[in-house]
Amino acid sequence: MLKEAAGAYRTIQVFPQESGFGAEIVGVDLSRPLAPEVLSEVKAAWARHGVVSFPDQPLSLNELEAFTLQIGRFGVDPFIAPMPGHPNVLELRREPDEKATNFGAGWHSDWSFQPKPPAATILHSEVVPPVGGDTLFADCARAYDDLSPGMQKMLAPLRAVHSAGFAYGTKGVFARETEKRTMQIIVSEEADKSLSHPLVRTHPVTGRKALYISPVYSHGIEGFSLKESRALLGFLFEHMTGEDYVYRHKWKPKMLLMWDNRCTVHFAEGGYDGHLRVMHRTTVAGEVPA
Ligand code: SIN
Repeated sequence: MLKEAAGAYRTIQVFPQESGFGAEIVGVDLSRPLAPEVLSEVKAAWARHGVVSFPDQPLSLNELEAFTLQIGRFGVDPFIAPMPGHPNVLELRREPDEKATNFGAGWHSDWSFQPKPPAATILHSEVVPPVGGDTLFADCARAYDDLSPGMQKMLAPLRAVHSAGFAYGTKGVFARETEKRTMQIIVSEEADKSLSHPLVRTHPVTGRKALYISPVYSHGIEGFSLKESRALLGFLFEHMTGEDYVYRHKWKPKMLLMWDNRCTVHFAEGGYDGHLRVMHRTTVAGEVPA
């Protein structure tokens, strides 16, 4: 990775991926409150690259919470029991003997079925398996940019329908699960509700447009038949998760990763059966997508 142009940042060092999507940030200690200039450079790098990783950050849960609050207010995390004594931290834990599909194994943007979905998700690695366990991210802004003007024009007025039902609903994947799972999932009728957001949203900081849909949570397009929705969404899902747009994140222990749910989707890859994986996760509140 090449360091970002000298002069771009004064207080941190940023090493972007070749595509510009995803970057590593060093030269900062996230266990302490960040000075205003450092925080604003971290936020600028995050806005620019969508997914930023910070290696070598051994953080306690309190320090993880304190860092999250420097980015913004906590988001609301439904359908998963939080850690005892830490109502805003989820433990993504999979034991070596678990056979249930790993959590997050489908392309999605976190909690996009909420009226104000989280702007950021922050994930901190505690135990990283020796094989597998990568997290894949797709750049939904560049995927949008690469669509033809005709397609962009057609998508502009559309609203996609989002629901948590497929995963957390009363007939969802978790409701039907028979394998043991360590994480405590809360199946709920609430998850079967749906709402709509613009299919293309504009990032409030960068002004860039991005596709705001995912196979896990977006099930239709307002005013379209199911068949039509499936055809158009299916095309867009395949386009936006094509390898040109994907950054594969490889974890090391004590790494913090922060992604922007407004312009990315992610997919937690499995491949580590027989090994423990433990991550701690917080979210930062976002705005009504527009
Ligand atoms: C998720 O937040 O969807 C899971 C990410 C991961 O475990 O890598």
